[in-house]
Amino acid sequence: MSNRQNSTPNDLSAFWMPFTANRQFKKEPRMFVGAKDMRYTTHDGRQVLDGTAGLWCVNAGHCRPKITEAIREQAGELDYAPAFQLGHPKAFELANRLVDIAPDGLDHVLYTNSGSESVDTALKVALAYHRAKGNGSRFRLIGRERGYHGVNFGGISVGGIVSNRKMFGTLLTGVDHLPHTHLPGENSFTRGIPDKGANLADELERIVTLHDPSTIAAVIVEPVAGSTGVLIPPKGYLQKLREICTKHGILLIFDEVITGYGRLGAPFAAQYFDVTPDIIVTAKGLTNGVIPMGAVFVSSEIHDAFMTGPEHMIEFFHGYTYSGNPIASAAALATLDTYKEEGLLTRAAEIGPYWEEQLHALRDCPHVVDIRNLGLIGAIELKPIDGEPTKRAFNAFLEAYNDGLLIRTTGDIIALSPPLIISKAEIDELFDKLRKVLMRNI
Ligand SMILES: Cc1ncc(COP(=O)(O)O)c(C=O)c1O
Repeated sequence: MSNRQNSTPNDLSAFWMPFTANRQFKKEPRMFVGAKDMRYTTHDGRQVLDGTAGLWCVNAGHCRPKITEAIREQAGELDYAPAFQLGHPKAFELANRLVDIAPDGLDHVLYTNSGSESVDTALKVALAYHRAKGNGSRFRLIGRERGYHGVNFGGISVGGIVSNRKMFGTLLTGVDHLPHTHLPGENSFTRGIPDKGANLADELERIVTLHDPSTIAAVIVEPVAGSTGVLIPPKGYLQKLREICTKHGILLIFDEVITGYGRLGAPFAAQYFDVTPDIIVTAKGLTNGVIPMGAVFVSSEIHDAFMTGPEHMIEFFHGYTYSGNPIASAAALATLDTYKEEGLLTRAAEIGPYWEEQLHALRDCPHVVDIRNLGLIGAIELKPIDGEPTKRAFNAFLEAYNDGLLIRTTGDIIALSPPLIISKAEIDELFDKLRKVLMRNI
């Protein structure tokens, strides 16, 4: 029998929290009850500087008036419209606005509710595209070691983080993985794009030769791998992947769930690196993290391949109840307005050099074995405590939280990705706080 009648509003046991050390958290809860611009307010009334834009999503900072107001208005005007065989104007307006800021040639958008759904949507589009073109033998998907593509079955199959995969059986079949691009020693403490490692893209030729190009549908990579601890692609690496994919008729998918919407100083990483994939996967910053929504951009070549057959027939058997939801669409439109008015999609290019300078100044702190950065992303890799991997970084996270700073950790790596509105004074504050934490015996 359930003991729910005994539960109180402060009982934390019913909620099984995602990607969380549940038992540790529930002994020592960390709750946010408010947020404004660069700061959270905790349940015990403290201010915490947001060094991670929530989870890499609150790119314009918190509780921005335009976005809040758009949601409020839309909720009172049209709350929901069926997504299948019916529409509403804002979903179309948003798609037009999105393709305007996307790389040339990516002219069509499918909506989802998260990065994980965007990834699985992109993989399904890729497989169905080849089949629509009469190439149904192209069923293989190529991901990369240490890649993170969300938590659904498609995403964990092409993903390369072992803890996210090992519990879940056989996953998708027909998947292979490129090697990751982390070259400690050779590229340690590189500022920006590392010099060494473009040759790792040649591994794609080996995989293509092994399986034969006629069996491969798509390659999916994060242009900058985030969740695995920030791995910046070596100079020329993404260009090589593009060339090899084009040569063999393989679709290239960029998972831009964290790099999309200004993180590197351009709207998308594709523009920053000047490499145009066939599909771009996004979510997070699309609505400033405020309402769940994702968008998958595809080329006209892909879209048009589906637009055949009788006109009354559904062209692609895929979609979500909430694809292009009116409130999410209104939030995304207001987010794009905010980004535009404040120049946020390119701001990381302006403030990036200052960010880089202050980040790399932490090099002399104890246990720091590498520092990496690009745009408004930073990573500090720590030497693990002997026999207790991940503990040192987790200790740093707890200490930083208590000192009024939100950082994110993965393994023994601290990842930083503040809202794109961060000022120089706030960058100073962030690194001052972090230095104090790292100087302690964590
Ligand atoms: C590159 C990448 N892809 C996909 C996802 C999954 O997004 P979501 O958590 O919204 O499903 C993430 C989330 O961090 C991500 O970083």
